[in-house]
Amino acid sequence: MTPREAFTQALAVRHSCKSFEADHEILPDDLRYILEAGRLAPSSFGLEPWQFIVVKSPSKRQELMAACYGQRQIGECAELVAILAKTGKFLDADGAYVSDMFARWGLPQEAYTAVKNMYRNYIAATNAKEWSIAQCHIAAANMMNAAAAIGIDSCAIGGFHPQLVENALEINTDDDYTIAMLLPFGYRSKGQPARHRLLLDDIVTYLH
Ligand SMILES: Cc1cc2nc3c(=O)[nH]c(=O)nc-3n(C[C@H](O)[C@H](O)[C@H](O)COP(=O)(O)O)c2cc1C
Repeated sequence: MTPREAFTQALAVRHSCKSFEADHEILPDDLRYILEAGRLAPSSFGLEPWQFIVVKSPSKRQELMAACYGQRQIGECAELVAILAKTGKFLDADGAYVSDMFARWGLPQEAYTAVKNMYRNYIAATNAKEWSIAQCHIAAANMMNAAAAIGIDSCAIGGFHPQLVENALEINTDDDYTIAMLLPFGYRSKGQPARHRLLLDDIVTYLH
């Protein structure tokens, strides 16, 4: 298979899996491969405003399932990854997190200050929390596609009560994290349903 065919195949088999095989575990190396794909995702200003929590606790899984309107994938999956978006102090232009993230570029002082000021102006004019969650969704897409590439199924879960999810994950308001998405991973127990998508002609226009 060419790289192009392999990636096309991963995109074709990825679907929102509603039912996972019981007792079909994900190997630690495969979980790491998936998390690594999240780590390598692009993010605005390169700030990587995410934290991944692998939820192992069965009781926490049950609590999270209830917070997701009873969606059974949460309880059934082999591994559950919660993606938290960084907010508050993490996004402060003068805070330690942003400073450290920009410092690692090794820019001369003038350029460092210019980037920081650009970020300061940008974030002041943005809904920072929604912006941070949007970055997390890109990491989620990377993880789901990486999983598909190695035959592991997933389902993006955004249908939840945020406060209940954050309670279950033991996140406090001053932690400055907010839930972005829950990602159950596992092996499908049922066939893949038909895919519904608009056609390229419906969604692509060319501006010459
Ligand atoms: C941000 C987001 C939130 C979603 N939330 C849920 C959810 O709570 N439960 C669910 O079963 N699917 C959820 N989905 C999956 C979509 O319903 C699904 O991607 C869409 O119907 C297309 O189907 P496919 O993923 O099988 O191609 C979500 C997808 C995204 C991108």
